[in-house]
Amino acid sequence: MEKLHTSTDLQRIRQQFQALWQLDVGQPPIYSDAPGGTQVPISVISAMSDYQQAGTANLGGFFATSKETMLLIEQTREAAGQLLNAPAVSIAFGANMTSLTFALSRAIARTWQKGDEIIVSSLDHGANITPWVMAAEERGCTVRTMDFTASHSLCVTELERLLSQKTRLVAFTLASNVTGSITPAAELIKAAHSVNALVHVDAVHYTAHRLPDVQALDTDFLTCSAYKFCGPYLGVMYGRPELLGSLKPFKVRAANSQPPWCWETGTQNFTAIAGLLACIKYHGWLTGSDYDRKGLQTSAKWIEEHERQLSQRFLDGLKHITGLTLYGSNTTIGRTPTFALAHHRQSSSRLAQLLAQYGIYTWSGHFYALDLLDRLNLQERDGLLRIGFVHYHTQEEIDRVLNVLDDISA
Ligand SMILES: Cc1ncc(COP(=O)(O)O)c(C=O)c1O
Repeated sequence: MEKLHTSTDLQRIRQQFQALWQLDVGQPPIYSDAPGGTQVPISVISAMSDYQQAGTANLGGFFATSKETMLLIEQTREAAGQLLNAPAVSIAFGANMTSLTFALSRAIARTWQKGDEIIVSSLDHGANITPWVMAAEERGCTVRTMDFTASHSLCVTELERLLSQKTRLVAFTLASNVTGSITPAAELIKAAHSVNALVHVDAVHYTAHRLPDVQALDTDFLTCSAYKFCGPYLGVMYGRPELLGSLKPFKVRAANSQPPWCWETGTQNFTAIAGLLACIKYHGWLTGSDYDRKGLQTSAKWIEEHERQLSQRFLDGLKHITGLTLYGSNTTIGRTPTFALAHHRQSSSRLAQLLAQYGIYTWSGHFYALDLLDRLNLQERDGLLRIGFVHYHTQEEIDRVLNVLDDISA
């Protein structure tokens, strides 16, 4: 792939995505459904087909294709480690974040006793609530719920109110997939560790917009999903190496018992793993950088600033549209460019339908954040309309969305 010389060469970035140039209702669609899954650049698609075409094989053979698959996994673990600021041995792959979290919760729950407590958050996607709640039920543990704040984020005083010497685990998100709020994760993790609780953070929404840093966070576990940041359908898990080694995951007898291998059940999706490696390279390429931690940081800075400008334009335009309520921060601070809206008269699904008629793709409903929608009393009102952007979106696309929103809200 050709190198980008200026970090703001958006058109050249957009050329990497065939999907952005397809036509719907006579013009390229706007993929503002991005928080539900991003588009995939050509380099990632090619890496997946190249892997299959070059000959594929399972692990452990003496022949070339098997050895190449092994090498691919090692390289991808290394690259995913750069993405999360973690050693390669702390990275495990899985079908998706939900499956990884179910597996992790079952393994951790083996260490819980009746009367122990766990804490989840009402801001979270169900994938970071239900696995923990089900595991707690099985072990006779109590579940406490950290409520979200007025600004649809989390705060340490609410967590401190719930923590006790009985707390074994705290699970929460780095950023809400509904309101785009970024949580004060490092502070929350410090509080959880003060009572020796383990912490699992959901980085699924966050990773499209910021570079996770497991060392700065000091988290015990983190999960994310590559299809949210221009990669394939593949889950990635980080676990503190000593914990990955001491916990007992559910695995078959013949499978490798060494971490991180023992956390990867069955045959892995090698094709998707090839795609993830290309996806991490793509993130470095965005600013003409390498895909080591430094290069990824350079690109993440560019993404953050570009997305801040997109958010600013969207929020400025939204002020002139009547009938819509924004759930979440009305400033660009502490948020991703993901916006949750409700109309005073029209249902969210009707708005999503109307937007689709203009080639603007959005999601409506609960986005699997049922507790959040319940607490906002929005479940019965058909949920929220979610409009979300990522680094490949343009200011012109924001204007087009705003214009249509204005027309259909009137
Ligand atoms: C914040 C968040 N967490 C978890 C998930 C679940 O991820 P996966 O689809 O990889 O299981 C999603 C998916 O939408 C999400 O947005």
